[in-house]
Amino acid sequence: MTEKKLPLADDSIRNLAEHLGTPFHIYDGRAIRANARAMRKAFSWSEGFINYFAVKALPNISILRLLAEEGFGADCSSLPELRLATEAGIPGERIMFTSNDTPDEEFAEAFRLGAIINLDDISHIDDVIRVCGKLPETISFRYNPGPGRTGNAIIGNPVEAKYGVRDDQIVQCFRLASEHGVKHFMLHTMVASNELNEDYITETGRMLFSLVGRIKEETGISIEQIDMGGGIGIPYRPEDTAISFSHLSSRLHDLYHEMIEEKGLNDVRLSFECGRCITGPYGWLITRVRHIAHKYKDYAGLDASMADLMRPALYGAYHHISVIGKEGMERDHIYDVTGSLCENNDKFAVDRPLPELGKGDILAIHDTGAHGHSMGFNYNAKLRSAEYLIEDDGIYMIRRAETYDDYVRTMLPERKLMAEVGKWR
Ligand SMILES: Cc1ncc(COP(=O)(O)O)c(C=O)c1O
Repeated sequence: MTEKKLPLADDSIRNLAEHLGTPFHIYDGRAIRANARAMRKAFSWSEGFINYFAVKALPNISILRLLAEEGFGADCSSLPELRLATEAGIPGERIMFTSNDTPDEEFAEAFRLGAIINLDDISHIDDVIRVCGKLPETISFRYNPGPGRTGNAIIGNPVEAKYGVRDDQIVQCFRLASEHGVKHFMLHTMVASNELNEDYITETGRMLFSLVGRIKEETGISIEQIDMGGGIGIPYRPEDTAISFSHLSSRLHDLYHEMIEEKGLNDVRLSFECGRCITGPYGWLITRVRHIAHKYKDYAGLDASMADLMRPALYGAYHHISVIGKEGMERDHIYDVTGSLCENNDKFAVDRPLPELGKGDILAIHDTGAHGHSMGFNYNAKLRSAEYLIEDDGIYMIRRAETYDDYVRTMLPERKLMAEVGKWR
């Protein structure tokens, strides 16, 4: 069970809603820092342990900077994400570049920055050599175990996944990399998303430790670091239980002892690239009820929409909702809680028991600190909301709300004839 907490007292949330205008996302920097520290402490047995925060989860420079201060790196999957990490002051060696179907210019930039390039396919070895002239001194390969593992609902079955090097090619990848002068080798995988089953994550550790042994045996190559990817889940529902970093860590430590140390293999650093479990529970979407409508069902229409939080509409994901000032009341009314998009699935909750709602009620939608604002889009010309950060000394704006001018910035005021492409036939 998990208590669904708010970051501030009801009065403060009301006051913020009044002064800042709704909707907005607010993140608790104090809790994010404490969480980051807890993760590092739990894994401190692994010298040099690092979590490369998955930038896609919360791509805001202030957040990346905060996490860098706590010793985290960044996991980037695109050129703009590489730029965000760099602007947050994260040096190349603390950036994991894990991409798929990667364009040449992204390999080139990751190489230039000295980021750890994590290759998704055996054919990408030649691509990096063609683009960068050689392989970097350090390389990582993303492993897809195929039928050896089952995935979970969000990430899908490994054999169906477009990600990662096949089991029968992974050893050859390291061999080829070594022949091309690579000096430091890392092994990566990402086989689950939003996983709350500790056994599954532990098994991923077993799978990678075993592969480290196999690579050593078949090639003599020592893997120096394993990256277990992201995917540690969070308790979106009150009845869910969070993964304990210290418990997970101690199970992985036992496995490490048995499969690496006792087998006389070289030290292997442990790393993750978690996003969701780092910032997810420490973000809230604060929004106001705009209309209550009684149709064939009862609807509470909010001033936020799936432009601000897409997970419920996209995956049917559960996000807990607190009604400010009414948390002590019985949840004896059933609502579909909707946004204002011309899309019937623009809903934050379906058939959700809540206290009776009225126009102007302020709601806090929980767990929006990861894959929340970042998934937002502009359909219906909806403008994305602001983001705020709570720190010890006050509340900071870390992204202003979008304006109409932002929305039209890429549109040309006058259409432009593309003379160079000639006439169509
Ligand atoms: C390669 C990779 N790493 C890390 C993550 C972060 O996952 P999470 O935020 O669930 O920890 C993702 C998420 O999609 C990913 O694709």
